[in-house]
Amino acid sequence: MKKKVLVTGGCGYIGSHTVVALIQNNFEVIIIDDLSNSNAQTLNNIKKITGVKPTFCECDLKDIHHVKNVLKYNKDIEATIHFAAYKAVGESVAQPLLYYQNNLVSLINILISQLELGNINFIFSSSATVYGNPKKLPITEENQTERPFSPYGNTKKIAEEILEDLSKVNAESNMISLRYFNPIGAHESGLIGELPTGIPNNLMPYITQTAIGLREKLSVYGNDYPTPDGTPIRDYIHVVDLAKAHVKALKRQLQQKQEKNFETFNLGTGNGYSVLEIIKTFEKVSNKKLNYEIVGRRNGDVPSLYANAKLAEQKLLWKANKSLEEMITSSWLWEQKARHQTL
Ligand code: UD1
Repeated sequence: MKKKVLVTGGCGYIGSHTVVALIQNNFEVIIIDDLSNSNAQTLNNIKKITGVKPTFCECDLKDIHHVKNVLKYNKDIEATIHFAAYKAVGESVAQPLLYYQNNLVSLINILISQLELGNINFIFSSSATVYGNPKKLPITEENQTERPFSPYGNTKKIAEEILEDLSKVNAESNMISLRYFNPIGAHESGLIGELPTGIPNNLMPYITQTAIGLREKLSVYGNDYPTPDGTPIRDYIHVVDLAKAHVKALKRQLQQKQEKNFETFNLGTGNGYSVLEIIKTFEKVSNKKLNYEIVGRRNGDVPSLYANAKLAEQKLLWKANKSLEEMITSSWLWEQKARHQTL
């Protein structure tokens, strides 16, 4: 019998890649998504890749009655992987309540509903943003968390605190929070990837949209940081590697291998690249010159953020192995194909 896993936000960027990895590892997947920032066509594309179309419930997680109802008919769910959340940093600064309501009410509703079923095997989609501006690099899980700059980031930090509090009173619960560094890239088929609505906030989609002619030019936010070329350094990780880490975390959880009932893991490669290095690599793999200019710093950006990912290697038996060139090549392939197949 296949084990049944609930994936919230399974039509989204990281969610859809994780659904593919779960199906390829013989799990049965049920997706809950409100399609607020994703597209139901993704389900067909998941089927093209895996041969399986996952069960889908269009449901707003803020509606607890609806969530409870979905779980009532799926009592045999063994675990939940919770991706569903808003993620635009700038929007969260402008509309904090929207973010606190959406990201935290959804989390609480799914936890309450799952508790009623008597099992809390839960994997949470967190972010390196919980480290704020780190005092020590590379960042281990021992680094102090700080209040993140944005309400979006703060929803991740508060969510982790909620999970930790819950783990203290529910000895039976097994929860894992995965702290992503900078996910980029897309599935090698070019069938699923990130499709930001409106103007992208993040570097990679902004680069590919500029190269394809949707944006005039990329703004590089500052070249006066204390880094070798003056532009900020991040730990970019291929979304397909990231997806695989969720399967490993799930197996650890279901095989009762957790050492504490709330665990956190960094998911990064351990390598840092600057914005200019990303641009240079993009130009190399796409054979295109990118139109960009250096402008002032963006509010809230930190100079350097990269992981020590050894804990995930030891405990999840997972290691990112895709190169920066593979990440950028797949992002570019996706940009060129995406608009024809999802819109
Ligand atoms: C951002 C969020 C982080 C979130 C993550 C999700 C902030 C401060 N942080 O991380 O909370 O978890 O996205 O993916 O927003 N850059 C440019 N020009 C652009 C866009 C970005 O120069 O048009 C630079 C940024 O200054 C940064 C680097 O590219 O140095 C990466 O930026 P981005 O992709 O937005 O990721 P983060 O800011 O690291």
